[in-house]
Amino acid sequence: MKNQYEPISTSIVKIETLSPINKLFTLQIKDEQTRNVFKFRHGQFFILSVPGFGEAPFGFCSSPTIKETFQVSVDKRGSLTSKLFELKVSDGIGIRGPYGNGFDRKKIKNRNLVLIAGGCGLSPLRTIIQDANLHPDKFQNIQIFYGCRNSELLSFKKDYKKWSKNMEMNLTVDTPDKTWSDNVGVVTDLLTPEKIKKDAVAILVGPPIMYKFVIQKLIALGLSDDDIYVSLERRMHCGIGICQHCALVGGKYVCTDGPLFSYAEIKDKPEGI
Ligand SMILES: Cc1cc2nc3c(=O)[nH]c(=O)nc-3n(C[C@H](O)[C@H](O)[C@H](O)COP(=O)(O)OP(=O)(O)OC[C@H]3O[C@@H](n4cnc5c(N)ncnc54)[C@H](O)[C@@H]3O)c2cc1C
Ligand code: FES
Repeated sequence: MKNQYEPISTSIVKIETLSPINKLFTLQIKDEQTRNVFKFRHGQFFILSVPGFGEAPFGFCSSPTIKETFQVSVDKRGSLTSKLFELKVSDGIGIRGPYGNGFDRKKIKNRNLVLIAGGCGLSPLRTIIQDANLHPDKFQNIQIFYGCRNSELLSFKKDYKKWSKNMEMNLTVDTPDKTWSDNVGVVTDLLTPEKIKKDAVAILVGPPIMYKFVIQKLIALGLSDDDIYVSLERRMHCGIGICQHCALVGGKYVCTDGPLFSYAEIKDKPEGI
């Protein structure tokens, strides 16, 4: 029987620094046959391991339609991510997955899509953004709302010009520096009745504090609980619904039932947000 925890041997093929605390890694599965059958959906994640430094979940951040390689953007936090930041092109890591529900494309078909991100939350949403950029015919109107503490921490800066051709970009920072000429304040301030259509579908990825205020605002703007999706981040071990580390009350697991949940699914769970 196949060991479900056995990592797939993977190489780092490119490393780009996106901010002082964030790097973008382009990865390629070493074995060609495994690479050819490896598929993931928007919003899914995988478990990345470095021998001797442990493993942790990370969201895919490139378009699922790009086949040879995939990307992950990593914030430097603890021992695993610090080790990752020391690795070089052609070094090996392990991955297992893809895991999680991902986003159901049927739910967003022919709908206005509002993507709201805080901090490194833009990373998993980039699977949709990059896909929409490569295949504009597959998506309806997309609006991006992205906020960070300061402009230095904004990820994927060099992509904004390209994204703006097909999508509406709305950026904000809490603390502007001398070079910043765009919005100042929290991302919630950008969500106005002029901008947000009542029948839109919203996907939120960011710190939990952002969820609380953004959800309140979206509901006040007329969005239904079923059309607001949040990506929950929990401590995970197995990633496959066995260890209970990511369990929510009511028998749901963030690793297998999530990480994307509609607000309707989790609003009555005190440990949800
Ligand atoms: C589904 C999912 C997708 C993720 N995608 C990404 C991604 O694309 N990019 C990325 O950089 N990170 C992502 N993360 C978070 C990443 O898995 C953690 O930051 C990981 O623990 C880092 O490992 P580490 O050993 O470097 O840090 P650790 O030693 O595990 O932790 C360092 C610090 O961060 C805190 N911390 C770590 N994880 C969490 C958490 N889940 N909730 C609250 N505090 C935490 C710890 O308490 C500690 O203070 C994701 C997490 C989940 C659940
Ligand atoms: S991480 Fe083990 S049950 Fe979800």
